[in-house]
Amino acid sequence: MTETVTGPPSNTADGGRALRKWLAGNRRDNPVLWDETSRSCQVFGFAETQRMLKDAETFSSDFSRLIPAPGPAETAPGERPVPNLLKGHLSVTDPPRHHKLRKLVGQALTPRAVLGLEKKITELTAGLLEAMEGRDEVEMVSGFFNPLPVFVIAELLGVPAADHAMFRGWADALVSANHDAGAVDASRLQVPETMAALLLEMESYILDHAAHRRRNPSDDVLSRLVAAEVEGERLSENEVFTITLMMLLAGHISTTLLLGNSLVCLDANPGALAALRADPAAVPGALEEVLRYSPPAPLAYRLTNRDTTLGGVDIPADVMVASWVLSANHDERQFTDPETFDITRSPNPHLSFGHGIHFCIGAPLGRMEARIALSMLLERCGRLRFAEAPVYYDSPTIFGVKRMVLSSPVG
Ligand code: HEM
Repeated sequence: MTETVTGPPSNTADGGRALRKWLAGNRRDNPVLWDETSRSCQVFGFAETQRMLKDAETFSSDFSRLIPAPGPAETAPGERPVPNLLKGHLSVTDPPRHHKLRKLVGQALTPRAVLGLEKKITELTAGLLEAMEGRDEVEMVSGFFNPLPVFVIAELLGVPAADHAMFRGWADALVSANHDAGAVDASRLQVPETMAALLLEMESYILDHAAHRRRNPSDDVLSRLVAAEVEGERLSENEVFTITLMMLLAGHISTTLLLGNSLVCLDANPGALAALRADPAAVPGALEEVLRYSPPAPLAYRLTNRDTTLGGVDIPADVMVASWVLSANHDERQFTDPETFDITRSPNPHLSFGHGIHFCIGAPLGRMEARIALSMLLERCGRLRFAEAPVYYDSPTIFGVKRMVLSSPVG
């Protein structure tokens, strides 16, 4: 059956209830929905989303022919031009360039670099939990879920501890600029022109720091980024900056959202919370289920390079396709009892880190951070009590809480 379906609920301020209902109806009736009037396509099924993400030749991540890159700013004589953020940004690059860039970033973000952060993440988490001790109420997003990933990325890049607060200020400005604009997924970087001054300040800082690392290499990602080489090619200064910025944005908000979504899911499922307290080794499995149930990035976009067919529906070339990962993760054709939050679900092939060539390169880091943070929080937090109802982002493109107040989280 094919019917025209009106757009998704305009916000997710109700915790996504109306959105989930809307998605379930579409998934049942039209796993792929082509709308002739708007000439746009939405995908609701798991198999169809997976196929779209896997076929990068047909479904492009480079939208520059539809949405031209912001032109080089009009630069007054003597002024520095605003950096081009699309150069070097993995998420919006297609092969063969993507393949090369990904290899370069992979040389920097090695499994060793990630594992080397375990102790530091534990220390940072302990410090944030200590700061909550004895407080009657704590706003968890600003007090824990947000600072942890920002500090971790700062550490990963080798930013000195004294500059962590400044780094956090930038990250917050980037996130609020994106979400106030209301159109971004967690891995796609968009920086409004109004932020030119901030960008130039960040660029100066990062490039100075990179130049220092070029002269005095250390064991951090920035040192490896400036030294990385594929087929004789190194990253340009602009690319080093963009990649750094991309890690800050992509690696920050998604992990923040995952932590908030974890507490929402555990609050709604006391049995799962009790099971985790009894067996902390179950935390990684529980996080996979949180990722499936409430993916921080609920949508993935692609642009068709040619006429194609997806799930039996014809889609012309040059059309934006929006795939609902939130819906794919709840597809009855793929998951048994998808509406049940089951921390022992295995296998759990959710698409919340993407699929195919753009699969999240930071997934091992995001998983490790969330595991440490949730395990230590549960260990220290006797009772999970919301002092007020959590406040959700009001945007269908990111999924999670922006404010969550807990009563006496750490006694
Ligand atoms: C739990 C946390 C995270 C979630 C849910 C998440 C989610 C995602 C998703 C869905 C994509 C694919 C986007 C697409 O196909 O268009 C992606 C890509 C990416 N993520 Fe993550 N991410 C997380 C953590 C991180 C971290 C910690 C970092 C960096 C340190 C990071 C860096 C990136 C980068 C660089 C890409 C682009 C990869 C490419 O295009 O080849 N992410 N992420």
